[in-house]
Amino acid sequence: MNPQKVRNGPNFMQQVNKKKHVDCALSSNSDSSDDEVEEIVAIKKDVQKQRFSVSAEAYGQFNKKENFKAKFIPKSKDQSERIKQRMQAGFMFSALNEKEIEIVVGAMEEKIFHKSEYVIKQGEEGNVLFVVDTGELDCFKNYGKGDVFLKTYYPGESFGELALLFQSPRAASIIVKSDKAILWQLDRETFNLIVKEASIKKRQQFETFLENWDLLKEIKDPYDKLKMSDALFEKQFKKGDVILQQGQKSTEIFILEQGRVSVNKNNQKLFELIKLGDYFGDQSIVAGTVESFSYVAEEDMKLMYIPKKSYSSTLKEIEATLMKNIQTKYGKYL
Ligand code: CMP
Repeated sequence: MNPQKVRNGPNFMQQVNKKKHVDCALSSNSDSSDDEVEEIVAIKKDVQKQRFSVSAEAYGQFNKKENFKAKFIPKSKDQSERIKQRMQAGFMFSALNEKEIEIVVGAMEEKIFHKSEYVIKQGEEGNVLFVVDTGELDCFKNYGKGDVFLKTYYPGESFGELALLFQSPRAASIIVKSDKAILWQLDRETFNLIVKEASIKKRQQFETFLENWDLLKEIKDPYDKLKMSDALFEKQFKKGDVILQQGQKSTEIFILEQGRVSVNKNNQKLFELIKLGDYFGDQSIVAGTVESFSYVAEEDMKLMYIPKKSYSSTLKEIEATLMKNIQTKYGKYL
């Protein structure tokens, strides 16, 4: 990873801010370096403005929170449980505490759509976010030359957050693929006061790392990298802690943030992971085997991790590379 790039490169949140002003593709396409410098300066000013307005807004919202009377739509116990399950499956709501989850569940409204119906149309104003309960939906984006298929949404996933996060027009269209889709809709006010702050904080926390993590270079869509930050968490370890035991199945893919982790086989130290972005726990999750090595913290440290349940919506897209890397990294020790 190039540290210069980490410090200076325009990242996704910057690009998203730029998108608010120039409604075009999400990535920079300037060829000239002068243009790039100007563009980066403009983007940075823009970001400062945006960050200020986000924090000013958050501050205002903090005061508002006291008086906030969330929308409440009565539901059966069964429905509430199902919404909670769906919220846990995705990551948009991963930073919420129990009380906040209850408020969000109360505010959700059931919406039923049928095959080929548009749930969201690119370019329109957006005031709600959706969580998929049942059914499948396709997402298309028009970059200027007709719709390009981006992805299919499945139960537990959510969409429609960008218009709420950045007060921008809808950035893509979402159409029902299955015969029927049951969605849970969350209003802008509850989203802004309960979900938005946590979501922005989390996305800002990991954005630069994700933009520059070599492993993700095959993932072209900056939006997919941004979404990954919702699935990233952190854990502290003390020197000497066994993070993962040989013979175990890992429930996380761990990613090095700082510090050193030794890789051991049968109590023999083989080598150390020391680079930002080095990762482990992938053998169990990607290849489905038990771990061939133990991983031990060589100093007090923090690791990022992606839970197993988020693998299919984050790293699965680059599974072939992950499999190849397992061979390259560990082949000679297996
Ligand atoms: P929003 O812009 O509110 O409405 C369309 C939604 O499509 C958007 O939020 C995202 O949730 C989702 N989406 C999925 N992929 C993309 C993408 N590549 N660019 C923009 N939006 C995307």
